[in-house]
Amino acid sequence: MKNEFKQVVVLTGAGVSAESGLSTFRDGGGLWENHRVEEVATPEAYDRDPELVQRFYNTRRKALKTVEPNVAHKTLAKAEKCFESFLLVTQNVDDLHERAGSKKLLHMHGELLKMRCVQCHKIAPIHEDLQLDRICEHCERTGTLRPHIVWFGEMPFYMDDIMRALMQCDLFVSIGTSGSVYPAAGFVEIANQSGAKTVEINLQRSDQNSHFQQSIQGLASQTVHDFFESITQF
Ligand code: OAD
Repeated sequence: MKNEFKQVVVLTGAGVSAESGLSTFRDGGGLWENHRVEEVATPEAYDRDPELVQRFYNTRRKALKTVEPNVAHKTLAKAEKCFESFLLVTQNVDDLHERAGSKKLLHMHGELLKMRCVQCHKIAPIHEDLQLDRICEHCERTGTLRPHIVWFGEMPFYMDDIMRALMQCDLFVSIGTSGSVYPAAGFVEIANQSGAKTVEINLQRSDQNSHFQQSIQGLASQTVHDFFESITQF
C-alpha cells in the first residue's frame, strides 16, 4: 500500500554522513587526537582546555568544505514532501541535510556552522575558525563565544517539538545511529508507545535494535532510498 503513513519522524546519526566522508563517533574507536570524543565534548573539558575543544570543532567545521550530501540525505529531502507531516531530527552537527534540501529539520545536538555567546545568548553563523578571543558582535564582550553544540551533560535542543511529534507519529525511522546517547536513544520507545511502526536502518544492529519492529541492515546510501520507495510514491 502506498503512503499508508501520515505522520513521520526520522532520526539520523553519524552513519548517514559516513559515506559523504565524515567519520562516525564510535566506529573508529571514538578517538580524536588520542582523546575520547566524550572528553572534548563536555562543559568541563571547555573550562579545562578551551583551546583543545575549539580546535576539535574548528577541525570538524573545516571538514564540511570537503564533503557533499549523499543519496541518503537527498532521499530524506525528497521524502519530506511525501507525507502529511514529516519531521527530520538529526543528531548530526554537519549541514549535509540542509544542503541536500531538507527543510523540516531540527538539529537536536546543535550545528557546527553556528556559534553562541554565553553572556547574551545570541546565536550567529560561523564558517571559519572560532578563536577564543573573538568579540561577540551583539554584546561586544570578548571570549564569550562557544560552538553552538550540545555537549555531554547539556540538554538537547527542541525537545518539546520532538516529543510532540513522536507522540503523534505513525512511523518512526532511525538511520545511522548507534543508539548509545540519550535522549535520542529512547525515541524508539516513545514511538512504540504512540502506536507507531518503528524501523531501524543501520550498518549493524544498534544498541536499541530489539525495540524496533523492523530492522534493515546495510549502507545508508542503498537502504534509505529503497525503504522510502517501498512505502511512498517517489
Ligand atoms: P555513532 O558513531 O555512535 O554511530 C554511528 C552508527 O552508524 C553506527 O551504529 C554505525 O554502525 C552506523 N553506520 C556507519 N556507517 C554507516 C553507513 N554507511 N550507513 C548506515 N549506517 C552506518 O554516532 P551517533 O549515533 O550519531 O553527540 O552518535 C550519537 C551522538 O554521540 C552524536 O550526536 C554525538 C556523539 O557523541 C554529541 O555530540 C552531543
